[in-house]
Amino acid sequence: TGMFTYDPGFTSTASCSSKITFIDGDEGILLHRGYSIEELAKNSTFLETAYLILNGELPTREELDKFVKGVTYHTMIHEQIQFLFRGFRRDAHPMAVMIGVVGALSAFYYEDLDTDDPYHRMIATYRLIAKIPTIAAMCYKYAMGQPFVYPRNDLDYASNFLHMMFAVPCEPYHVNPVLARALDRIFILHADHEQNASTSTVRLVGSTGASPYAAVAAGIAALWGPAHGGANEAVVKMLEEIGSPERIPAYIEKVKDKESGVRLMGFGHRVYKNYDPRAGVLKESADEVLAMLGQKNNPKLAIAKELERIALNDEYFIQRKLFPNVDFYSGIILEAMGIPTMMFTAIFALARTVGWMAQWNEMITDPEQKIGRPRQLYTGAPRRSYVPIDRRG
Ligand code: CMC
Repeated sequence: TGMFTYDPGFTSTASCSSKITFIDGDEGILLHRGYSIEELAKNSTFLETAYLILNGELPTREELDKFVKGVTYHTMIHEQIQFLFRGFRRDAHPMAVMIGVVGALSAFYYEDLDTDDPYHRMIATYRLIAKIPTIAAMCYKYAMGQPFVYPRNDLDYASNFLHMMFAVPCEPYHVNPVLARALDRIFILHADHEQNASTSTVRLVGSTGASPYAAVAAGIAALWGPAHGGANEAVVKMLEEIGSPERIPAYIEKVKDKESGVRLMGFGHRVYKNYDPRAGVLKESADEVLAMLGQKNNPKLAIAKELERIALNDEYFIQRKLFPNVDFYSGIILEAMGIPTMMFTAIFALARTVGWMAQWNEMITDPEQKIGRPRQLYTGAPRRSYVPIDRRG
């Protein structure tokens, strides 16, 4: 390969150095700034974890208050953006709408294009973390034909999102604090995951000096695919298709048959060759949340657990070290909470915005960072002469 290393899919290329997230895929360990994901999920809140991921240290109470105020100040979006929504078909997928609307923020905040200025980088970070729940909830309201609901800055981050999703003007809506806490935990679990496809996309787009809003819109586009964030939606569809525990063995056979082209969604990971620690937290959380909602016997959870049990004892999955990943249990919890399937990946995008912005900031301030520009292995025709059209064929 001459001067270059041929590495399709970047299975062995480190594209950057980073101080944000550590993964040991063989051991199933995930740390943000040195803190384990299990401890953060148990003890932290999403905005506190966001502060940690962005700044490197857990905040003091004062620092956290200031950060939360900084973010909540930006929760509203420009009124004109409503008209942008109205240009989309009612049945448009929320991810399609989010790519457009988040990209369009770059037309509202030109000044944040000054990416060498730490103040503009900070404001762009606040704006994106603050506005993305508003935008995601608007996607849902638009699909439902319900009026948009303005953010409420007196509520915490997850409660405010539930409020914007489910409140209607004609009756009071009270956020269930247990559900809000469960959703906040889901946000924590999705906040960052080092150089996955969408984060690499954000870094690559950002490396050209493009608007951070455009870079995050590109990240949302990369996240949408079923091999990445779209898997949480695909898992619930798969569990629906399986329908009952007796049908699991036949489904597993179909997955093992490569000709079928069917993969077990929510299983397998480029980096984890062990149980994804996020899936472990979510499996516990699924039990808790479903018990609290009086859905202990939720049929999808029963199918998922049995599917996991059978797969983890099957030679095909053992040999290839395929384990449940973060998407395997998250959809079940979100669905039990009343969140429609079409919003699952949008929620992933909402939470991952923290990681995208932390990585974008780190990339911009890295003295070794250059424009992202991979090389290729050319396999096309050698040099040849142009042939006039009537002498071809
Ligand atoms: N079901 C069945 N077989 C699988 C699966 C699966 N889910 N995942 C991998 N394999 C097999 C694959 O066929 C291959 O077998 P062989 O060696 O015989 O050709 C082997 O395992 C290695 O797979 P790969 O495609 O080379 O692995 P990769 O690192 O390129 O892909 C992945 C990683 C996550 C894209 C893949 O495991 C997958 O498609 N999983 C299902 C989708 C999914 O759950 N995605 C979510 C990823 S986690 C968080 C996120 O980003 O959302």
